[in-house]
Amino acid sequence: MKDTQVLEISPSVKWIGVLDPDIRTFDIVMETKFGTTYNSYLINAEKKAIVETVKEKFVDIFERKLRLQIDPVEVEYIIVNHTEPDHSGSIKRMLEMSPNATIVGSGNAIRYLTDLLNCEFKYLVVKDGDELSLGNMTLKFIGAPNLHWPDSMFSFLQEENVLFTCDLFGAHYCHQNMYDDRVGNFDESFKYYFEVILCPFSRFIIKAIEKIRKLEIKAICTGHGPILTSRWKRYVDLLEEYAKEYLMNPVKHTIFIGYVSAYSKTQELAEKLAEGMLMIDEVKVEIHDIENMPLSQIDALIAKSTAVVLGSPTINQNTLIQLYQTFAMINPIRDRTKLFTSFGSYGWSGEAEKIITSALSQLKLKHFGRNLFVKFTPKPNDYQMYVEFGKEFAQQLISSSCSEQ
Ligand code: FEO
Repeated sequence: MKDTQVLEISPSVKWIGVLDPDIRTFDIVMETKFGTTYNSYLINAEKKAIVETVKEKFVDIFERKLRLQIDPVEVEYIIVNHTEPDHSGSIKRMLEMSPNATIVGSGNAIRYLTDLLNCEFKYLVVKDGDELSLGNMTLKFIGAPNLHWPDSMFSFLQEENVLFTCDLFGAHYCHQNMYDDRVGNFDESFKYYFEVILCPFSRFIIKAIEKIRKLEIKAICTGHGPILTSRWKRYVDLLEEYAKEYLMNPVKHTIFIGYVSAYSKTQELAEKLAEGMLMIDEVKVEIHDIENMPLSQIDALIAKSTAVVLGSPTINQNTLIQLYQTFAMINPIRDRTKLFTSFGSYGWSGEAEKIITSALSQLKLKHFGRNLFVKFTPKPNDYQMYVEFGKEFAQQLISSSCSEQ
C-alpha cells in the first residue's frame, strides 16, 4: 500500500515525512531497534516553505506527499536546520521540482550543502534572531549550533507557535501515529538518542533550551521520531535533565576493557587487570569479550567510559578484525584524551601491541605509557603483577582526572 500519510500540526503546518520502521542500524553504527522516521514539514503560508527533507532513499514517497498538498513549483523556501544527509538527502530533487526555491540555513549549513549537493543553488544565510517573512507568517531563526553538527539551528513559526528543531528532541522511534501522546512510551529511544548522539554536546543543549524557554510553544517538530505536541515540555525538561546530569556527573571512572582471545590467555589477563582496577573504590569496570559484540554496543560502551583498555593476541603479525572495528567506533571529538592501554598474549613477535597503541594514539586518546603483553601463557607467579598493572592504571585515571578539575 502506498504511503500517503500527511499529518496536521497546526493550521498551516503539515508533516510530510517518511516512516522507516525496518531500519536496525543507523549511520552504520547506531542500533535502531524501534526503526526511525525522517520528518519533513510543509508550511502552507502565502510563501510556501519546506522544513527539512528526507533521506534520499525515500525521495519518491516524500515527493508524492508533497504533491498531494501543493504544486512543488510554488515552494519558495527550503529551510535547512541541519544538513546531515538523513535530512538533506532529498534537497536535490526538491531543487528540480522547485527551481525558484531559496535554501535557508546557517553559514555552515550553506557551506556544507555546497559540498554535499555539488550544484548551484539560491541561498540565504541566516543567524540567531533573523526573521523571514512568508507573507502572512514569519519564521524566526534561533542559533543552536552543534546539535548535532556545527550547522544546526532552530526555526520558529511565530504565528502558530511551532518550533522546528531537527535532531534535538528527536528519537529513533517509528510509530505511524507520530504524535507524542499517541505512540506509546518512547522514553527508552529518547534517552538512547541522547546517550549515543547528543551527550557530548550537553553544554550546547542547555544553551539552546535556555533560548526556547521564553517561547510560547504549541508543538516541537523534530527531525526523527514523534512530533512533540501535548507533552513537549516533558521532553524538553527530560533532555535538559540528562544534559545537566551528564555535565555534573561525568562518569569519571568507568574503564572499558574490550578483548578478543583465541585460547583464553588474553581473557585471563583481562580478568586480572579488572581485578586490580576494582581495588580502587571509585572505579567501575566494563569487561567484555568483543568477538561477537554488536558495534553499536561497543560504541555505547566507549561513549560512557573514560578509559579504554583493549586486549588482543597477535595472529599472523597482526591484530584482529574486531580490534579494527573498535578503532572505527572511537570518535576523537567525543573520546579525545581518554586514557588507554593495551594487553594480550602472543607467541613470537607481538605486533598487536604496536598496532593498538599507534591507532589509539592517532585517534587522540592518551596513552598510559605502558602496555601489558606476555609471551604465550601468563605465569601464575606473574598474576599479582597483572593485578598491580590494573590498579596502577586505575590510579592514574583518577589522578589525571583530579588534576584536570
Ligand atoms: Fe538526523 Fe544529525 O542527523
